[in-house]
Amino acid sequence: CGIVGYIGHREAYPIILEGLKRLEYRGYDSAGIALYDGTDLNVCKTKGKVADLESRIEKESTTKGSIGIGHTRWATHGVPNNINAHPHYSNTGDLVIIHNGIIENYSALRKELISRGYSFKSDTDTEVLVNLIEDIKRKEKTKLGKAVQIALNQVVGAYAIAVFDKNKPDEIVIARLGSPLAVGVGDNEFFIASDASPFIEYTKNAIYLEDEEMAIVRLNKEIKIRKIKDDSSVDPYVQELQMNLEQIEKGGYEHFMLKEIYEQPRAILDTFRGRLLSNEAIIKMVGVEDNMKKFLNADRIIVVACGTSWHAGLVSEYIFEDLARIPVEVEYASEFRYRNPVITEKDIVIAISQSGETADTLAAIKLAKSKGAFVFGVCNVVGSSIARETHAGAYTHAGPEIGVASTKAFTTQITVLTLIALRLARAKGTISSSDFRRHLIELELIPEKVEKTLLSDKNVKTIASIYKDAKNCLYLGRGYNFPVALEGALKLKEISYIHAEGYPAAEMKHGPIALIDENMPIVVIATKMGHYEKVVSNIEEIKSREGKIIGIVTEGDETVKKLADHVIEVPETLESLTPLLTTIPLQLLSYHIAVMLDKNVDQPRNLAKSVTVE
Ligand code: G6P
Repeated sequence: CGIVGYIGHREAYPIILEGLKRLEYRGYDSAGIALYDGTDLNVCKTKGKVADLESRIEKESTTKGSIGIGHTRWATHGVPNNINAHPHYSNTGDLVIIHNGIIENYSALRKELISRGYSFKSDTDTEVLVNLIEDIKRKEKTKLGKAVQIALNQVVGAYAIAVFDKNKPDEIVIARLGSPLAVGVGDNEFFIASDASPFIEYTKNAIYLEDEEMAIVRLNKEIKIRKIKDDSSVDPYVQELQMNLEQIEKGGYEHFMLKEIYEQPRAILDTFRGRLLSNEAIIKMVGVEDNMKKFLNADRIIVVACGTSWHAGLVSEYIFEDLARIPVEVEYASEFRYRNPVITEKDIVIAISQSGETADTLAAIKLAKSKGAFVFGVCNVVGSSIARETHAGAYTHAGPEIGVASTKAFTTQITVLTLIALRLARAKGTISSSDFRRHLIELELIPEKVEKTLLSDKNVKTIASIYKDAKNCLYLGRGYNFPVALEGALKLKEISYIHAEGYPAAEMKHGPIALIDENMPIVVIATKMGHYEKVVSNIEEIKSREGKIIGIVTEGDETVKKLADHVIEVPETLESLTPLLTTIPLQLLSYHIAVMLDKNVDQPRNLAKSVTVE
C-alpha cells in the first residue's frame, strides 16, 4: 500500500492526489482520502484506482482543507471494495487512520473491542487498530500521540500508519514498523509518504523513520520523533534527496515499463561507472573492498530474494561458481526464513531487492544476521530498509523503477553481481588476468550492445502480434540463460496474464514436451556461446512436435534460423554476459503482447511493486 499525508498552508488535496498517483505502484485496488476543511473531516474512498477516487471525490465530496491523509491499497485483509478502502474512522468518527502492513493479532483485538461495545464496518485489521487507539485514548484520558504509542505496543505485525484526530486538527501522528515511511520537511509544512516521490517537487529535505519509531508532525512546530517501545526521544536526521521529478515521470513513452526497458543501456552504464576501470584493469566496489577478508573466507554464498530479483540471484549462481569458484545457493526469501536453514558465520548472504522493502527478504536478512552470517545487500532504492539492515552492500544505479514488472532493476542487479564475482575471482586467482581483462572490456561494451538489441523492437512487435492470443507459452534456456527463460515467462505472466513457464531446455523432455502442439509458442534462447549444439537438438525435438519456435540467437546465426519460425538477434558477447542481452527481447515481447491485449502494463491486476507484507 502507499500512504501520503500533508499538513501545512497549501491545499492538501492536489498534493495528496498526485502523491497517490506516484505511489500507485505500491498497490492499486482501492484508494481514499481524508481532508480536514477547518470544521469537518471528510472522507472519500472507493474501490479501484486513484483516478476513480479523483472522479468520485470531485462529484461527491469536498476537496478543501490544508490537512489530510490518503491511501492507495493492496488488499491483505478483506476484499478490495469501498468499505475496506482506507482511511478508516474510529467508532466516534473522531479519528481517521491510513495503514500499510498487517496487524497479525487483529482478530483477538477485534473480539475484545466488540466485547466492549465497538462495532466494525469493514473486514480490515486497520479499523481494529484505529478503534484500539480510540479506546485507549478514552480510557487513559491521554493525547493522541500517547494513545497511538500504547496501542502499537499491543500490536503484533507490521505497519506504517498516519492518524488524525479531528478534535486536535493541528497534528498528524505517524509510526513505522516494517513498512517504510518518509517525512518531507518544508517551510512550516510536512509531507508524509511511503517514499519521497510524492513530495520531491516541494522539498528535498527528508527524514526516514526507522522501525519502531513514531513521530508527531504539528503545524508550525518542529517534528518530534520517539521510540515506540521505551518513549525515548530521537533526534531527527534530515537527509538531502538526490532524485528529481523528471526521473519519476514517463518522458514521452507510452508506459513506464517501455521507458524503463529503453533506459537499460544508461542504467547498466551508471551501475558500473566508477566501479569498472578497464584501463587500469580493476574493479573497485567499496562494500566489497571493505569486507574482502569475509568474502575470501566464505564457505559459500546464499542468495535470498523474491520474484525477478530471485531470478537475478539465479544468474549470479552461474557467475559466482563459474568465475569465482564459490558455491552458491539461491533461496526464495519466503521459504528460507521459515525453514530453519543451516547458516554459519562463514556464510555470506547476499540479499537482492529492487525496492529494498520486500518483507520476506527483510525477514530473511534478520534471520541470517541472528545466526552470525555477513549480509550484503544489492538494492536499487537508496536508504531503503534492506539497504539499512544489511552489513554492507552495493546499489544498482537503475534510477526509480515505476512499472510493476521489473526490467532495468533486473539487468542492473546482474551487472552488480557480475562485478562482485569478477572482483572476487581476481582476488582469489580463479580467473587469469587476460580473461579478467576480456570480461571488463566486454562488460563495458554491454550498454552499446543493449542499445543494438533494442533495435529488434519492431521485429519483436510483429512476433507479438502473431502470438498474442496464445493461451500458453514455454520459455527454454540452458546454463546462464536458464534463469533468463524463467524471467521471460514471469514477465509474460505478470502483464499479459498468459500462462507461461520457464524451463531448462533439456528438462523439457521430462514433462513440458507433452504440452507441445502446433498452437504452442516456445521461446528458445539459443545464443552461440554456451551449450549451443545442445540447445539446437532441443529445438529439433520441438520442431518434430510442430511447436512454434521463437529463437533468441546470436547475430548472423544460420542454423537456428532454418529451424525456427522466427528469430530475434542479439549481438555476440561472452557467455556469462549473455543474460544482459537475451533478457531484452523477452521484456519487449511481453510488453507488446500486453499492450495488444489492452492490459494495464504498468499496473497489472493483483500485483504490487513493493510487497511490504509477507
Ligand atoms: C513484487 C514485484 C516484482 C518483484 C518482487 C521483489 O512481487 O511485483 O516485480 O520482483 O516483488 O521485489 P524487490 O523489490 O524485493 O526486488
